[in-house]
Amino acid sequence: EIHIVADASEGAKAVADAIESTLRGAAGSGAVLGLATGSSPVPAYTELIRRHREEGLSFAGSRAFLLDEYVGLAAGHEQSYHRFIRENFTSHIDIDDAAVVSPDGSAEDPAAEAAAYDEKIREAGGVDLQILGIGSNGHIAFNEPGSSLASRTHVVGLTQGTIQDNARFFGDVSEVPVRALSQGLGTIRDARRIVLTASGEGKAAAVAQLVEGAISARWPATSLQLHPEVLVVIDEAAASQL
Ligand code: GLP
Repeated sequence: EIHIVADASEGAKAVADAIESTLRGAAGSGAVLGLATGSSPVPAYTELIRRHREEGLSFAGSRAFLLDEYVGLAAGHEQSYHRFIRENFTSHIDIDDAAVVSPDGSAEDPAAEAAAYDEKIREAGGVDLQILGIGSNGHIAFNEPGSSLASRTHVVGLTQGTIQDNARFFGDVSEVPVRALSQGLGTIRDARRIVLTASGEGKAAAVAQLVEGAISARWPATSLQLHPEVLVVIDEAAASQL
């Protein structure tokens, strides 16, 4: 399902609505949310913080799994994705801090950590709703072009383009880690429902491939075409090549 929105606030509401309905649907047992970092979902997280504060929307009992983490950064590191999600979302709502889980970027054996992370998600009963952004080269989480469409959580080498794209968060491009732990494309597709959000011209080519391209590891996001329930929330600029 493709939802083209007029502005960032309409996009934020559409993504927040999906999360809110997942929370309500799981009442009692607690929802398992899959959270993405990057700037794209932040307006939706801000909207959910508002609903929590002003409308009493509760996240109590729910759990959250992050998509990815940089190898070499501990959870508390300023640029770690774990810290990003706490600062931009989870520390402002009533989710248990210990229930927000990310791959451990400081693990001594990243490959073993990757396998253990996949297992943790399975043990939690799987993800009810996965939020996704998309990289300008069509990556999702950190599954760069060439990633196996069936991959599980794994250690990935980042492309030069992704390192450049993400350098804005670091002091200098040389400080951007070159490897990450990332849920695989197969892991991501195990989520029961997926919402991908993107905005801006820079994402237009990747969005066009995601929606209309042939399924190929060349554009990892195309693997989402194999999933039965994906909502794509994009602005006019990101939709401009459809
Ligand atoms: C990073 C993350 C992805 C994210 C992408 C796009 O590479 N690993 O999960 O989708 O950036 O980020 P942004 O939303 O800031 O454009």
